[in-house]
Amino acid sequence: MVLGRYELMEMVGSGGQGELFAGWDVATDQKVAIKLQKPRQFESTGHYGEIADELADEGGRTKYLAGIEGIPRFIECGQYQNRYCIVLEFVEGAVLYDRMISARPVKEMSTAAAIIGQLCEILHQVHTRRVVHRDVKPENIILEPDGRVRLIDMGLAIEIGEHTERGCGTVGYAPPEQYDENPDGVTPRADVFALGCMLLEMTVMRLPYAGTEKRPEPECPVLPPDRLRLVPEQIRSLALRMVDREPANRPTDVLEVFDLLRPLLHCPGSKPPSKPLDPDPTEFYRTGRSALWSLGDMVR
Ligand SMILES: Nc1ncnc2c1ncn2[C@@H]1O[C@H](COP(=O)(O)OP(=O)(O)OP(=O)(O)O)[C@@H](O)[C@H]1O
Ligand SMILES: [Mg+2]
Repeated sequence: MVLGRYELMEMVGSGGQGELFAGWDVATDQKVAIKLQKPRQFESTGHYGEIADELADEGGRTKYLAGIEGIPRFIECGQYQNRYCIVLEFVEGAVLYDRMISARPVKEMSTAAAIIGQLCEILHQVHTRRVVHRDVKPENIILEPDGRVRLIDMGLAIEIGEHTERGCGTVGYAPPEQYDENPDGVTPRADVFALGCMLLEMTVMRLPYAGTEKRPEPECPVLPPDRLRLVPEQIRSLALRMVDREPANRPTDVLEVFDLLRPLLHCPGSKPPSKPLDPDPTEFYRTGRSALWSLGDMVR
């Protein structure tokens, strides 16, 4: 029994520092997600303690973002058998990465737009609270059975402008400014970059800086021209601006990205795409659940 009330069930994922278990909250009879620090192996006591501190920070940031529907609800955190753990709402569905692998290229632009659009809606709220996620990528996104997108893993989230002592992120999605110590910190444009990488990955099946080992280099992005041609001009130019190495050349914020995607989003009440992804992220817009859509052109 974890923290006196959660039964550990099966492991659903494992990453750098934690193992993700499904769990059962016996107090509320609800399924939960438990991110549990990996068991100590060769780490010194000090280093193992630092990992616990990082998980505690992650728990704190998730708690700080409470109320944003696109982010799993924070429940509590604490120690279980000397391992730090974070308890979260369990999100049912498929990790976007797995769906993308089996369905690329995403056949219809409206599907890609619905995924990026929903992420813009979530990130708009995150950025409004002065937080940058810094690890937006298909492995950190869950598609729920009703087409809703959820953003997980606040492991690298940080305050806008906070001094960063070392580089971090995921190669392929992290912008150049995330690679070094950065006294000025990063801005929401770091997340805009990652969203642009995902938009290209879904539509042209290539990450824009896949040709570079690590840091995005000036000679990239090199994208297959035949596939790029199939992407409508407006989306192509938006995606390429989003992945510009220079933050100032990217769209100002996720609202600007959302506005430019708007013509591709399904109107409430419209028919599903002919080749929908399963689960279908356009359902979110077709069923009128978007907060930004209903604001119309008043968004900005
Ligand atoms: N709230 C949740 N509900 C359901 N499944 C989840 C939830 N959170 C995470 N998962 C699953 O666990 C996997 C790993 O979770 P997460 O991305 O938070 O950690 P990580 O990246 O493995 O860890 P680290 O940040 O330490 O490297 C996810 O890809 C997803 O499959
Ligand atoms: Mg992750």
